[in-house]
Order: sequence, then C-alpha cells, then structure tokens
Amino acid sequence: MTSADWPILYRQYLAQLQSRADAALARGGFDHLVVPSGTLHYQAFDDRDYPYAVNPQFKTWLPLTRTPGSWLVYTPGTRPRLVYLQPRDYWHVVPQAPAGYWTEHFDIVVIRTPEEALPHLPAAAGCAILGEPQSALGDYVPNNPQAVVDYLEYHRAFKTPYEIAMMREATRRGVRGHRAAERAFRAGASEFGIHLAYCQAAGQDSEELPYGNIVALNEHGAVLHYTDRGRLPPKPARSFLIDAGGSHGGYACDITRTYAADAGDEFQALIDAVDGAQQALCAQVRAGIDYRQLHLDAHLALAAILKEFGVIKLAPEAALATGVSAAFFPHGLGHGIGLQVHDVAGFAASDAGGTIPKPEGHPYLRLTRVLEPGMVVTIEPGIYFIDLLLEELRQGPHADAVDWARIDAFRPYGGIRIEDDVVCTDGEPLNLTREGFAEA
Ligand code: GLY
Ligand code: MN
Repeated sequence: MTSADWPILYRQYLAQLQSRADAALARGGFDHLVVPSGTLHYQAFDDRDYPYAVNPQFKTWLPLTRTPGSWLVYTPGTRPRLVYLQPRDYWHVVPQAPAGYWTEHFDIVVIRTPEEALPHLPAAAGCAILGEPQSALGDYVPNNPQAVVDYLEYHRAFKTPYEIAMMREATRRGVRGHRAAERAFRAGASEFGIHLAYCQAAGQDSEELPYGNIVALNEHGAVLHYTDRGRLPPKPARSFLIDAGGSHGGYACDITRTYAADAGDEFQALIDAVDGAQQALCAQVRAGIDYRQLHLDAHLALAAILKEFGVIKLAPEAALATGVSAAFFPHGLGHGIGLQVHDVAGFAASDAGGTIPKPEGHPYLRLTRVLEPGMVVTIEPGIYFIDLLLEELRQGPHADAVDWARIDAFRPYGGIRIEDDVVCTDGEPLNLTREGFAEA
C-alpha cells in the first residue's frame, strides 16, 4: 500500500467515522457533533506555553495535529465542516492552508481569530461538544456526553485500512530511529546522544513523538519509564533498552528493543529468550482471545525463562500465583494503540459503557477486552531487576524461591523489554513492527 492509496482509504474511513458519529449522536440524543482542536496552555506566572497536544477527538477526523483554535462540526446527513484558525500572526509560523487528500470532503472556513468560529457553529443546545474545559468559547462549553464518548471510544479500537496505513508510516519513522539508536549505542554514545540520533533519524523532535523516548543504559533499564537521558556514557555500557515511537497523521507507533553490548554474554541469551516468548505471544493476537489471558500467559512464559536461567526456583504457575513473577514483570503485557499511544477504551465492556475488570493482582494492565479483527495492540513483555521490588521480595515469604546470586549477576544490566505493535485480523496477526524492521 502506498501513499497513492490514501485518498481512497481515507474516503472509506471517513464514511465509517460518519456512521459511527451518527450512531453516537443518536445514543446521546444530540443533533451535532462539535469538536474543538484544543488551545495552548500556559505555564503558571509565565508567558511560555506547553507543547500543544491536539484533542484526539479532533484528529480522529483529520490528520491535523498543529492547529489550535480550530473546530470540527458534523451534522448527520451533511458534509463535515472544518472551522480552521489561521491567525494573523508574525511571531509564529501559522498553520498552513489546508491541503491534502482529506480536504475535498470538508466544507472549510478559514478564520483569523478564535472568536470568529462562533457564527460557524450550530446552535449550542443540540451539540455534543467533545473537548477540554479550556476550549470553551461563548456558549460552546465542552459537555462530553458519556453516551457519545463511550460509543466513539469503544469503536475507535477497530482500525480501518486507512488507520493501519498511517500506523505503518509511523512505524517506518520509528524503525529508522531505532536502527540509528542501536548504531549510536554500539558507537559508545550517551543516553542523550542516542536520543538525538533517534530524533534525527526519525525526523521528529521530542514533542512530535507520541511519547517521551525511554533511552536507558545499564541499570537504568530497570526504571520502567526512565526519561532522564544521561549526558555522559557509562563505562562500560553493558546493555541498552530503548522504548521509542514515531507518529504520522496523528497515529502512533510504540516500539521497544533491548541490546547487549557483548553478543557473547548471558544477558544476550536472556534477551533472546524474552524475544522468543514475545514472538510467541504476538502469534496469539487472534480474534476471540481474551487479552487478560494473554497477559497471564506472558507471566507463565517469563517465569519459565527465569527458571531456566536459574533466577527463580518455582514452577511458572507457582511464580504467577505467589506474585514472584510480578516482581520481575511488574507492568501489563500491553495496550491498544492508534491515535493515542495508550489508546482509549481498553477496559470498555460495550459501546454503551461498563468496565471489564483487571485480573486480581495485576493493577497495571491497560487492556482487558477480547480481541477482535481491526484491533491493534502492543505486546511488550519484560524482565527487570528492580531494586525496590527485589527488596520487597527478599523481605517477603518467597525469598527462598530466588537465587540471589543470579540476581546480582543480572542487576547491572537493568532489564529487558521487547515491544511490537500487532494488528488482530480474521486470520494470522499482522506485526507492524517486525514488518517495519524487515522492510528496512
Ligand atoms: N511506550 C511506553 C508505554 O507503553 O508505557
Ligand atoms: Mn507500550
């Protein structure tokens, strides 16, 4: 699929989006959907603004991510309208005139000040207005009706071919970054240097990326969301964990890889084992599979690896039941991904609300739904040597289940995580990340 296909794919996607919006508005009893793109936020007692983050409900409709003060209006049975703020401003680069494959589907009104949007919005009384409180303009105060939001967010889990195409592009960027980052690591760069190499190769600056890069050398790999970026390389640099994405058209990819400096050392063997388990889990991304079960399967697979490497002495089932496996794998197996790196509605029981609970003892799982074709999920098992959790384990009733000398051997490497983005289909899963690396 090439960019030449995007206009057709987008047309299909928009038709799908309109029918979802029709149903969502009917659920809530509204006549119009009105979505502000969001506004700039300012730092306290300062005239500096925070990086602008577009309202996801807005970028669902159009691949626009840098247009604060704009509005999307949709009334069932009519063409969607874009009220597009292009301010008179010589201090900043103003948003470019709307262009691209999507413009022919919208009635576009260009405004020069935020207030000029008002006459182009339908009567406020019948509007479902989806946005943050700061986007309020006159009578147009976001009301975020639950019935409308529940319906839209539940169905957003099912990606159309257009969305998969956008995620493929995001993945291409991410893969370019990851390959450059591995080269920088092997050349002896610092975490900060690796991060810069990543951004350069991905062609995206920090605030364009879907989340802050996690670039961790040695023990830092044990900090799940390590974002400090040391300015000097440690000596020696033994291991490297990188969790970094890319974005395209508002869509994200989320990729994690772990490397050992020395291909001959035991940490590389542990990485290979986690990689094998990760690929087996990716192969299980199939319609009808309960993601909660996949998460528990991940615990069993990782516990088997820990036993094989002599780190724990328990059988996998016992490691899971006692919580010992959770000391080494203390996060969820993954999450939905799309317009948001942690996509919404991970616990949604239905498009009319309700919550699917997490398995007891697994508070950090972000996805509890049964997989269906079109869902895109991350699969990101890991094994970490986290001082805080290991100390709790040592003080607890299962201290004997662990070989502490083996822990000490692995602790200087921090941890391992391998993460791919996988599409659930009617048949074989489609692994966007592995496909991206193979293509590169
Ligand atoms: N990529 C970071 C996370 O999934 O939490
Ligand atoms: Mn992730």
